[in-house]
Amino acid sequence: MNLDSLAPPPLSPRMADLGTESAFEVLARARALEATGRRIVHLQIGEPDFETAPHVIEAGIKALRDGFTHYGPTAGLPVARDAIARYVSRTRGIDVSPDSVIVTPGGKPVIYYSILAILDRGDEAIIPDPSFPIYESVVRYVGATPVPVPLDYDRDFRFDPDEMRRRITPRTRLIVLNSPHNPTGGVLTPSDLEDVADMAREHDLWVLSDEIYSRLVYDDGAGGRAHHSIACLPGMRDRTIILDGFSKAYAMTGWRLGYGIAPASILPHLVRLQVNVASCTASFVQIAGAAALDGPQDRVDDMVAEFEARRTLVVDGLNEIDGVECRDPGGAFYAFPRIDVPGMTAKQVADSLLHEEGVAVLSGAAFGANGEGFLRLSFANSRSELVEGLARIRHGITRLRQR
Ligand SMILES: Cc1ncc(COP(=O)(O)O)c(C=O)c1O
Repeated sequence: MNLDSLAPPPLSPRMADLGTESAFEVLARARALEATGRRIVHLQIGEPDFETAPHVIEAGIKALRDGFTHYGPTAGLPVARDAIARYVSRTRGIDVSPDSVIVTPGGKPVIYYSILAILDRGDEAIIPDPSFPIYESVVRYVGATPVPVPLDYDRDFRFDPDEMRRRITPRTRLIVLNSPHNPTGGVLTPSDLEDVADMAREHDLWVLSDEIYSRLVYDDGAGGRAHHSIACLPGMRDRTIILDGFSKAYAMTGWRLGYGIAPASILPHLVRLQVNVASCTASFVQIAGAAALDGPQDRVDDMVAEFEARRTLVVDGLNEIDGVECRDPGGAFYAFPRIDVPGMTAKQVADSLLHEEGVAVLSGAAFGANGEGFLRLSFANSRSELVEGLARIRHGITRLRQR
């Protein structure tokens, strides 16, 4: 018997339920094409193209020199929890105690910890469709069922509250909200949040409020758009976990720093999950994060202003292409155009744009069935790259529509 040819031992069947994030897959494919000498325009990944502010970098370096190179408390360093509590109190207009903060390596673990802590096999979670694929992935991983509620193009990608209400069953435990929204750029209104809060209180549900794009909200022309958190509504603090972090607002994706704000009934469980997974978040990174929150905010403001200008450039450019229509995203840095290419799925169109035109975008269907017929473009890239990317998309879509 050849011992080197034995089949590997089996894995848990559960692994078949765990999904992934296509942005990272498309990035890898785009990089592989670049390695063959092709020039690719990257409009696939949700990552600010700005550098982390110098005072934040200096704070991180100083923290390393000052010895913040050891394990810290699992829930986070007191200095970071304090800064986060002050920041969330200030930006949401609620009184957040440092005791309700868990500091995490990126915002993503808050999704994982919350879903593991709340859902059991057979439970149901209401999830916007389309949405960030990690929600559905983790819900399925724990043996629970994701229940999609469609986001309508004609409602600027807000859900219809009656449609959400109809999806609540005795097995529903959790509603996931994400505003501003990935991939559509949709922003929920105070009245949408009131509706969800009514449902959550009436049916005793948890809400995971993913507010990672909270700083990226654009003017609606009438001065009326702003970020609102459902946690501010009466009775909602005790059933809401806020997810936020530094990746998008402070251009700190690679630092891996985020946080959850959670009530006392669940926070210790999130902390226990974190001690099992990560022990703690890197100590010097937390010091840098506190400096980001407490320091000058002008770079964030400049970045948001630049994204707003790019939003106009991208949306106008897309709407000039035959077979493409695009709404103004109210927040985040994504455009989610509807494309009309008869006989092709959004994935086939996205694949063709990558291979034939050298522009990397994501299929809307990678975010849920209701994203079919759409593409997601990130405008977290320079204006010159966006102009080049739009020209390539125009060329590709025109060619595909004339086949
Ligand atoms: C909706 C949403 N939530 C959470 C995250 C995770 O962010 P982080 O990089 O801080 O883990 C992302 C990142 O793309 C996101 O789009």
